Amino acid sequence: MNKKLIIANWKCNPTTEKEAITLFQGIGRIKKIKNAEIVICPPFIYLKSFPFLPRLRRTGKFSAKGRFASGGQALSFKLGAQNCFYEEKGAFTGEISAKMLKDAGVKYVIIGHSERRRFFSETEESINKKIKAVLNAGMSPILCVGETGEQKEKSQTFKILESQIIGALSAIPAQKAKNIVIAYEPVWAIGTGRACSVDDTLTVILFIRNVISKKFGRSISKNISILYGGSANSKNAGDFFKEKKINGLLVGGASLDAKEFSLIAKIAG
Ligand code: PGA
Repeated sequence: MNKKLIIANWKCNPTTEKEAITLFQGIGRIKKIKNAEIVICPPFIYLKSFPFLPRLRRTGKFSAKGRFASGGQALSFKLGAQNCFYEEKGAFTGEISAKMLKDAGVKYVIIGHSERRRFFSETEESINKKIKAVLNAGMSPILCVGETGEQKEKSQTFKILESQIIGALSAIPAQKAKNIVIAYEPVWAIGTGRACSVDDTLTVILFIRNVISKKFGRSISKNISILYGGSANSKNAGDFFKEKKINGLLVGGASLDAKEFSLIAKIAG
């Protein structure tokens, strides 16, 4: 838990495999980071474009050591996905199941991102089913929660967060809950260049940990990583990393630039 978790959410980018590989390789040049675990979440179609995938699939870890690094030990990172379907297999045209992701070497799956709630009508019910599918497949779901600008103005932040968390985590046994990661992603901060202040983030993270503690007990709540996401970049990352109670960052736009993302990883140390 002392290590910061830094998640790169590429969203629906880039548009060619060539660019995806260049980005993978750029990130692979980052020197070894002691205090952070890095997870790259590309679009599904690039999950297998990952250079040296056989090693990743064998060990669950990709190390660029000796391949891209120019001296020193290079960074290891893990693979993540941005979504999954809750059924394991069957007649569900266009869907990718948690089991398929597990087989592709994926360790983390982002679930309930606000863009999925907004553009793909994801509900608490489907999010809950997806979280269960990811846990059952032996991976960690990264549950995204956050209020819209309008809800914030109406002082509904805590009410919204609590209902999102309770809905998403309904009927999940406590022994599985320790593998869940939560990302506080205020919708108004995503892609706007206007990150939440560190103080406000801390208040919200404390609240989220309390909700988890009431549901699963203190010892599990202490072991769950709670991250911040929304316009995180190399300029503000240091302020978030300084806070012990903020366990890492979910990075969107800034993760599409290998240099910028490397800088964020470096700041974590
Ligand atoms: P952003 O996106 O860093 O571009 O604001 C974060 C996210 O949506 O996960």
